[in-house]
Amino acid sequence: MTASPVVTEAARRRTFAIISHPDAGKTTLTEKLLLYAGVIDVAGSVRARRGRRDSTSDWMELERQRGISISSTVLRFEHHGMVFNLLDTPGHEDFSEDTFRVLAATDAAVMVIDAAKGVESRTRTLYDVARRRALPVVTFVNKCDRPGLDAIEVLDHVEAELGVAATPLTWPVGIFGDLRGVVDRRTGCYHRYRRTPGGATVAGEEVLDPVAAAALEGEAWSRAIEEVALLDATGLHHDEERYRAGQATPTLFGSALDNFGVGMLLDSLATLVPSPGPPPTVDGPHRSLDAPFTGLVFKVQANMDPAHRDHVAFVRVCTGRFERGMTLRRSSNGRQVTTKYAHTVFGNERETLDVGYPGDVVGIVSPGGVRIGETLYDGPAVELPPIPAFRPGLFAHVRAHDVSRHKQLRSGLEQLAAEGVVQLFRAGPQGPLTVAGAVGSLQFEVATYRLLHEYGAGATFEPLGVRHAREVTPSSAERLAALRGVRVLIRADGAHMAVFDTDYSLQLVQREHPELLADHRIS
Ligand code: G4P
Repeated sequence: MTASPVVTEAARRRTFAIISHPDAGKTTLTEKLLLYAGVIDVAGSVRARRGRRDSTSDWMELERQRGISISSTVLRFEHHGMVFNLLDTPGHEDFSEDTFRVLAATDAAVMVIDAAKGVESRTRTLYDVARRRALPVVTFVNKCDRPGLDAIEVLDHVEAELGVAATPLTWPVGIFGDLRGVVDRRTGCYHRYRRTPGGATVAGEEVLDPVAAAALEGEAWSRAIEEVALLDATGLHHDEERYRAGQATPTLFGSALDNFGVGMLLDSLATLVPSPGPPPTVDGPHRSLDAPFTGLVFKVQANMDPAHRDHVAFVRVCTGRFERGMTLRRSSNGRQVTTKYAHTVFGNERETLDVGYPGDVVGIVSPGGVRIGETLYDGPAVELPPIPAFRPGLFAHVRAHDVSRHKQLRSGLEQLAAEGVVQLFRAGPQGPLTVAGAVGSLQFEVATYRLLHEYGAGATFEPLGVRHAREVTPSSAERLAALRGVRVLIRADGAHMAVFDTDYSLQLVQREHPELLADHRIS
C-alpha cells in the first residue's frame, strides 16, 4: 500500500526552533543555515541589534537589513528534499511563556551555546521549557573559532548544568581559537575547514580520510583521535532512543561566524529532527496524519503591519492538508474561520500559502477572535491538547491615564490577552477585568508600550503586592475570600486564583485550612 500524499509530505518536514542565551549566536546561525540551504547567496550583516531585546523578533531586524523577507514567526526552506520550518523564539529575557508556546509547535530544538561561556542562565531556562514539552534537543557549540573552554569541559558543563548527556557527533581537531576542522564520528573522516572572507559565503570544506588527516594535522589529529577514543570508552555516543527520550543531546562543534560546522549541522538536522507524528487528541486516540485538517494556534499577533490593523493567527498544521480558502472551525465555539488570506515564508519571498502539510505553519490573516491554544479543524469537531498557560506570579491593577480612552484600553487589553501577553482577571465575581497577571515583569512593560502605541491608551500597571498565588476551586475561593490577607481573582475564563499578600497569610491557610488549597491546576 502506498502512503497518502499527506503522510509522504509530513515525512519530509523538519520543524524546529533555536534556543540560546542572548549573544550566543542564534541570529548568526539562522542566517548561516539560510546560506547553506541556498536561500541566500551572501551572508553577513547581522549587526546593530543591540539594545532591542524586546518583544519584537530578532529576525525583523535581519529582514530590514538584508532586504530579504523573513516572517517574524517562521522561516521555511528546502534542503536536500527536506522542507525545514524554523520557528523563531522571542529574544527577550523573561517571557518564557512565549517560547513555551512556540516550542509547542515544533518537533525539536537546537540549543546554541557559546564555547567560552558554556550553559548560561537563559539557556537553562529555555532548555527546561524544551524539556517540559518533551522535545528532543540538538546542541551546537558555537564560537569555537575563539579561545574557550576545552571541548571536554563543555560536555561536562552541559551534563552538570542540565542533567543531560552531551553526545558529540563531531569532535574538534585543534583547540578552540585554532579550530582546524572536526572528526565526523559516524565516518571517522576529517572535515577540514577553510575560512572565507567574513564568513560571507559557503566555506570550502575538504573531507579527508584518517591517514591523510594524520599526515596533515599531526599532533592535533592524534589528540582528537585519543579524545574520541575516550568518548567511546565512556559511552558518549549517539543513541537515538536516549536522544528522543531527552536523556542525551547530540552535539556538534563549529563557528557560525566562520561557517564552520554549519553544513554538517543542517545535514544532521535532516536526520535528527523527527518528522511530524500523529498528534494526540483531547478525548481520544492519536489522530492519523491523513485525517481531515487540524491545526494548533500557537501565536496570535495583532498590528504586525503598522499601516493596517491586521491580526494574524499562526497555526501549526497537525493533520491533513491545508488549502487556502478552506473554511475551518474553532474548537472553542464551533465558529467558522475563513482562510482566504493565508501566508507563510518560502525562502526569500513572503508568499501566499496555498497548500500546507503537517509540520508547516500557516499565518491566517484576520481570523476573528481566535485564541492561543485553540484547534482549528475541518470536518467533525476535534480538539488537540491545548497549550497549558503558565501560572502567573505577578499581578497588577491596570489604571487608565485618561478615562475618556477607556474603550481603547479595554479593547487593547482584550487583544493582548488573546495574544497571551497578559492574562486578565476581575477582583470580584461581577467586577470588570482590571487586573492583569503575568509570569515575568517584562510582560507588563510590553503591554504598557503596546497599549500606548497601538491603542493610544496610556495605562499604568500598579503591582498588587502579591507574594504567592494558588489556583483554587470556586467553592474554596468563596471561603478563602473571607480570610485575612487573601484575595480571590477570577480569570476571564472563570478560573479562580487565591493570592496571598505575605508568606504568613499563605502559611496560615496551609496550616488551618489545607483542604482549601488542595492541588487544583488551572490552565
Ligand atoms: P544572538 O542572536 O544569539 O543574540 O547572537 P548573534 O547571532 O547576534 O551574535 C552575537 C555576537 O556574537 C555577534 O557579535 C556575532 O557576530 C557574534 N558571533 C556569532 N557567532 C559567532 C562565532 O561563531 N564566532 C564568533 N567569534 N563570534 C560569533 P557582535 O559583537 O554583536 O557584533 P559583530 O561581531 O557582528 O560586530
